[in-house]
Amino acid sequence: MFLHGTSKIDGQGHLEIGGVDTVKLAKEFGTPLYVYDVALIRERARQFKDTFKQHGVKAQVAYASKAFSTMAMVQLVQEEGLSLDVVSGGELYTALAAGFPREKIHFHGNNKSKAELEMAIREGIGCIVVDNFYEIELLKELGDVYQKKIPVLLRITPGIEAHTHDYILTGQEDSKFGFDLQNGQAEQAVRQTFNMPQFDLLGVHCHIGSQIFETAGFIMATQKIFEKLKEWKEKMNFFPKVLNLGGGFGIRYTNEDDPIPVSQYVNVIIEEVKKQTEAMNIGIPEIWIEPGRSLVGDAGTTLYSIGSRKNVPNIREYVSVDGGMNDNIRPALYQAKYEAALANRMNDEVDEEVSIAGKCCESGDMLIWDLPLPNPQPKDILAVFCTGAYGYSMASHYNRIPKPAVVFVEDGEAQLVVKRETYEDLIKNDLPFKAKVKN
Ligand code: LLP
Repeated sequence: MFLHGTSKIDGQGHLEIGGVDTVKLAKEFGTPLYVYDVALIRERARQFKDTFKQHGVKAQVAYASKAFSTMAMVQLVQEEGLSLDVVSGGELYTALAAGFPREKIHFHGNNKSKAELEMAIREGIGCIVVDNFYEIELLKELGDVYQKKIPVLLRITPGIEAHTHDYILTGQEDSKFGFDLQNGQAEQAVRQTFNMPQFDLLGVHCHIGSQIFETAGFIMATQKIFEKLKEWKEKMNFFPKVLNLGGGFGIRYTNEDDPIPVSQYVNVIIEEVKKQTEAMNIGIPEIWIEPGRSLVGDAGTTLYSIGSRKNVPNIREYVSVDGGMNDNIRPALYQAKYEAALANRMNDEVDEEVSIAGKCCESGDMLIWDLPLPNPQPKDILAVFCTGAYGYSMASHYNRIPKPAVVFVEDGEAQLVVKRETYEDLIKNDLPFKAKVKN
């Protein structure tokens, strides 16, 4: 079993995270429970930042808050001096409510509404990552209304798609995001924003995919972008102040995954950008990145209580937990794989293989297939590892199951950062049916 961050087995054979006994956490806060190892999040944040510092490169590391957005998380990100990427009015609202510095917020999205853009402009956030021509038009209007020069990056589709272990180069990328680099859309977007009164065009952005284990894709994307930057420099005398290469750095969910240290991605990116700018005989732009999963993924563990069991003779042993696809949709949606253990019996000998079922009314609600465990019994606590990214943030109310609580642990202390929802919370926006009056 692989233990991440500060996770270890204590003297009683319990799983401990951040110096806190998870069995006690389950008792105190109930299950299912998302537990975050704050020290591990801090360590990752520092690795990203320090690598840029070592190279003396001006940079922003923006946490992609879609991976896990709550006020406490945003405040932790602020404490670590990172920037923040938001993709909706809701994520922006969370950041503002948490008191995050506006100038370090970047706003993404392929269909930002006028109201969302207005909110971003009114609040004076750091930049808007413009995705399409419709958005350029909306922003022009709003720039005039608010008499502001709006800081923007242009999201570019470089024609590279990362499929976790390999990369596909397509002439014209089939993506809903961004301005295509090859077919001239990106150049047109530069022309429509560069030196225009409504825009302060800071630079360009690209994001090639998620859960990427190699550096080759980042090199390819950088090269593709620089091919065009050379042209644009000659044609329009435009060269970006900022080059944002997105997120996507892979983490270890199971032993099938073999990630490289985050510093290695950053090193490779910096080296390639340096190589390209030296060839152009031009200064290096600021490099921005947007890690989501790699900052919070393996820092998160979900605790569940084990309940019913069902034996299908000679086929399978189903063991059900008190959560499932409503707190972690990833297995059902992406066939994502996870490792898990019994938090209250970490040293017990593993003697059977069971499949972990969620409690939703859906056969597809299976969290883990064929998991080796020491004969799990009702009330045992199952700890599923690496659930910190896209677990809570993609949680739903399917089957009207309230969302779990979230706890941060660090240095022997636990801090409740999201309360468990109640049944009242579930119906708080419901309005009663007005029956038709019969004559
Ligand atoms: N920047 C942009 C523009 C993105 O679209 C994303 C993720 C990120 C940064 C952060 O990527 P990360 O470092 O977390 O890989 N729900 C899926 C992942 C969707 C990722 C969407 N974009 C999952 O659970 O695997």
